[in-house]
Amino acid sequence: MSWQQRIDTALAARRASQTLRGRNAVTQGCGRWLEREGQRWRNFSSNDYLALSQHPAVVSAWQDGARRYGVGSGGSGHITGYSEAHQHLEQQLALWLGYPRALLFISGFAANHAVISALAQSDDMLIADRLSHASLLEAASQSPAQLRRFAHNDTAALQRLLTKPCCGQRLVITEGVFSMDGDSAPLADIMDAAHQAGAWLMVDDAHGAGVIGEGGRGSCAQAQRRPELLVVTFGKAFGVSGAAVLCSEPLADYLLQFARHLIYSTAMPPAQAMAVSAALKIIASDEGERLRVRLRRHIERFRQGAGELPLQLTDSSTAIQPLIVGDNEAALSLAQRLRERGFWVNAIRPPTVPPGTARLRLTLSAVHQEEDIDALLEVLHGISK
Ligand SMILES: Cc1ncc(COP(=O)(O)O)c(C=O)c1O
Repeated sequence: MSWQQRIDTALAARRASQTLRGRNAVTQGCGRWLEREGQRWRNFSSNDYLALSQHPAVVSAWQDGARRYGVGSGGSGHITGYSEAHQHLEQQLALWLGYPRALLFISGFAANHAVISALAQSDDMLIADRLSHASLLEAASQSPAQLRRFAHNDTAALQRLLTKPCCGQRLVITEGVFSMDGDSAPLADIMDAAHQAGAWLMVDDAHGAGVIGEGGRGSCAQAQRRPELLVVTFGKAFGVSGAAVLCSEPLADYLLQFARHLIYSTAMPPAQAMAVSAALKIIASDEGERLRVRLRRHIERFRQGAGELPLQLTDSSTAIQPLIVGDNEAALSLAQRLRERGFWVNAIRPPTVPPGTARLRLTLSAVHQEEDIDALLEVLHGISK
């Protein structure tokens, strides 16, 4: 098959299964309203859970940073790209989350990929929750180690895999809050199982950091566990972009030697590090707590109202509240009808989620008003009968 035939066949297959992905250029994609082409929709799709992407203190920190450092970092952190702003943010994060060290990455995808690629060797076993994010599963499957996946959030299944023979080291991999289901991993049980078997644990808390746990410290703080590797990202509750890996002193030094995404890639702009620092300051403050309380109230209001819908809610108490539809076409049609009625909600289909579980992935934010949630519920009741 030629290159052209391969591309045409792949696109035709996506079209036939109603899973062709596309993008929409927006005028504004964060905040209460999504705006494009002169129209606006109530926004139930962004991961800006605390609305910090628009917060004046975060925006002005980025502006101050740009004035002080310029807009780019000018190189890899190993050359000239590691500034005092990066160092300050790493120290702030380590202190906040109770780890000896934090290392910044340009994205959560890069952080997950870098850590797994740098650690895994051929006689190791990576044991991941089946619903782990693409960045984790892709890195694990591309690594020379053996990848085994356990049934979602099933600690007994994990324990069975931990008894399988392995000549090297074992690393258990999971998310704190699952991005497509919104449910939380039983982190205390998972960590105990991993440690009993002498394995390490890596937790990607992209959707938990800033939003849940005491002071917004995330899923691990809530479970009162500190895994060997914790990944937090800044594109969701922090409202910015980028990520950090929290770990021990020697592991951070090891990653500085062997994590190729750190060595061979331009560091995040210092101004961005300053914006993330400002976001962290808010998250850790009383204002952050007020935003989390407001978000929790929205979540309760939505779940109460959605309980009577003919669509299935997931076991989620977080800002991610998917409604499982099942069929791809039906999910697309519901998303389209919501859009026609003024609500921006995305239909998530395979391969992002398992076949037969297409869904409306609704996300709530502190920026919503109660009336937004009530209006959404009313329309959902109308169109899902
Ligand atoms: C669980 C999880 N991990 C990692 C990532 C990737 O993070 P980033 O967007 O910073 O690359 C995402 C983003 O969608 C995610 O949901």
